[in-house]
Amino acid sequence: MILLTGASGSVGFELTKLMSARGIAAKAMVRSEAAAGKLKGLAGIEPVAGDFDDPASLDAALQGVERAFLVTNSTERAEIQQLAFLATAKRAGVRHIVKLSQLHAATDSPVRFLRYHGAVEQAIRASGIAYTFLRPNLFMQGLLGFADTIANTGKLFAPIGASKISLIDIRDIAAVAFAALSTPGHEGQVYDLTGPDALTHDEIATQIGAAIGQPVSFVQIPPDTMRQAAIDAGFLKWQADGLIEDYAHYARDEASAVSPDGPSVIGQPARPFAAFLADYKSVFTTNQGAEK
Ligand SMILES: NC(=O)c1ccc[n+]([C@@H]2O[C@H](COP(=O)([O-])OP(=O)(O)OC[C@H]3O[C@@H](n4cnc5c(N)ncnc54)[C@H](OP(=O)(O)O)[C@@H]3O)[C@@H](O)[C@H]2O)c1
Repeated sequence: MILLTGASGSVGFELTKLMSARGIAAKAMVRSEAAAGKLKGLAGIEPVAGDFDDPASLDAALQGVERAFLVTNSTERAEIQQLAFLATAKRAGVRHIVKLSQLHAATDSPVRFLRYHGAVEQAIRASGIAYTFLRPNLFMQGLLGFADTIANTGKLFAPIGASKISLIDIRDIAAVAFAALSTPGHEGQVYDLTGPDALTHDEIATQIGAAIGQPVSFVQIPPDTMRQAAIDAGFLKWQADGLIEDYAHYARDEASAVSPDGPSVIGQPARPFAAFLADYKSVFTTNQGAEK
């Protein structure tokens, strides 16, 4: 049996839909009725209660599980939560963990998100459980968080300058996760997952503008301005500081390489930014939700 964590989240939900559509049965770990409700109607998907902060619930959710998809959101507790999951998975006899990590995960990174991913990857390697690490770049869908501002001001604000970033559509990450969980040969693999192009934020803004038929321009802002905007939008201080570290990493041009790993796993090219925009452009004008 396969267990999917984060099934109500961005990547996890895309993966859960894919499992259902391709006829692969899986348990989906959820911690609320609302999350379970989101999965209703997905054939072959069985919601099971589980909370990373409740060890007994992890024990129950992992009973009989052979392969697991591991994701949490990035909070101060992410490392502890993922290590707790790993310890329980080891006891339960899980044979393969597919972990959603991040491009350039490393325990000595100046970026806190990359450090916690590096620490969890290290622990999984040491556990003896087979692993596949998915290390995606910035999610294209992450830009949906700026959709209101873009719709209201025609501007995309970020502290990134003219550096390029090879951002990726989460549906391509889900496709690689699906392959890693449902076909052999991905054990011991680390996949860097990027889009097909590296784009500056100026190019991203211009493409959004072309898709919605209204000009959108990129505006460089100081990191502190983005940090405050993130806090005003509800981010915890730890997360807002992490976001700024992420953008400093991007601004150093450290996330502009394009990787062949995803296309070679799924046998097709990664979606270009224009394809993402074709499906999501309405969000940047009305913020009423994606077309797909
Ligand atoms: N955003 C990016 O551009 C980017 C780029 C590279 C890597 N990443 C990595 O991607 C990961 C986040 O993926 P995502 O965006 O798909 O996540 P997400 O949308 O934030 O979803 C998080 C999922 O975890 C679940 N969850 C949170 N706390 C839980 C708990 N205590 N017990 C059980 N489930 C819990 C949530 O369930 P509820 O519905 O109950 O809250 C939700 O399903 C992070 O590790 C991040 O570092 C992100």
